[in-house]
Amino acid sequence: MTGIKKTQAKDRLRDALGGKQRQTLSGDIKIENLRKVYRTDESETVALEDFSLEIKKGELITIVGPSGCGKTTILKLIAGLVEPTSGTVTIGGEVCEGPGPDRGMVFQDFALFPWRSVRKNVEFGLEIAGVPKEERRERAQRYIEIVGLEKFADARVHELSGGMKQRVGIARALVNRPDIILMDEPFGALDAQTRNIMQGSLLRILEKTDQTILFVTHSVDEAVYLSDRIVVLTKRPARIKEIVEIDLPRPRDRASVEFTSIRKRILEELEKENVME
Ligand SMILES: Nc1ncnc2c1ncn2[C@@H]1O[C@H](COP(=O)(O)OP(=O)(O)OP(=O)(O)O)[C@@H](O)[C@H]1O
Ligand SMILES: [Mg+2]
Repeated sequence: MTGIKKTQAKDRLRDALGGKQRQTLSGDIKIENLRKVYRTDESETVALEDFSLEIKKGELITIVGPSGCGKTTILKLIAGLVEPTSGTVTIGGEVCEGPGPDRGMVFQDFALFPWRSVRKNVEFGLEIAGVPKEERRERAQRYIEIVGLEKFADARVHELSGGMKQRVGIARALVNRPDIILMDEPFGALDAQTRNIMQGSLLRILEKTDQTILFVTHSVDEAVYLSDRIVVLTKRPARIKEIVEIDLPRPRDRASVEFTSIRKRILEELEKENVME
């Protein structure tokens, strides 16, 4: 089933349930005229400008754009970790005013607890949510297996490689089953083979859930492989340059003519943004 068809099928179901007016669902994100300026004593950096985007529950959106253009900033604004200078983020119909358990984030720099074991890192959010010990164990174990770390479940995180740490971060975000998962280059530290395996696992996990994913990547190949839509950004301050819908059946064939031509077109767009001035 293609990503687009999947979205249309969900829309039809909602229409049947709720009439023509689509109800706002818990995984919906509406971003309106977002602007973010970072101010320090010495400088002012406009990271994001005039950014508006609507994402429907269950969509997988990737964001690609030049380094330093403002991608992490977008995720942090949606996570409620930084405040917009102006504009709003509405999550499930409510204006976002801070972090919440409905959103999970996989950070670019892992943000794990190095002294805790893999298992204890993955269980962390469940502990905070007061999930009973046995259920915590079971759920954590399942996601540790999904990311292929069962042999390292009791190792401390500081003993792991970069790619393994990243997989712990992914398991930790997924295990809480948030409505929205914000992933900041989650596969960036993985070798090409593990990366492909993880992309496949992510899609399989999502087939069974209705989670909304916002995924930042530097890999256009990864974006075309995963996305329902790709948001291509300009250089800083990030603005939307183009939104590309990917209507290819899954699992996608990276060698197909359609796949390679979409990838080539997006790469060309990005190259124009990367020209140094
Ligand atoms: N806390 C902060 N204080 C001041 N400036 C910041 C802060 N966070 C980010 N910036 C600046 O905002 C701009 C956008 O940063 P951001 O991290 O969002 O970019 P990015 O697209 O995620 O980059 P990369 O591709 O390298 O991860 C950069 O110029 C960065 O220096
Ligand atoms: Mg970043």
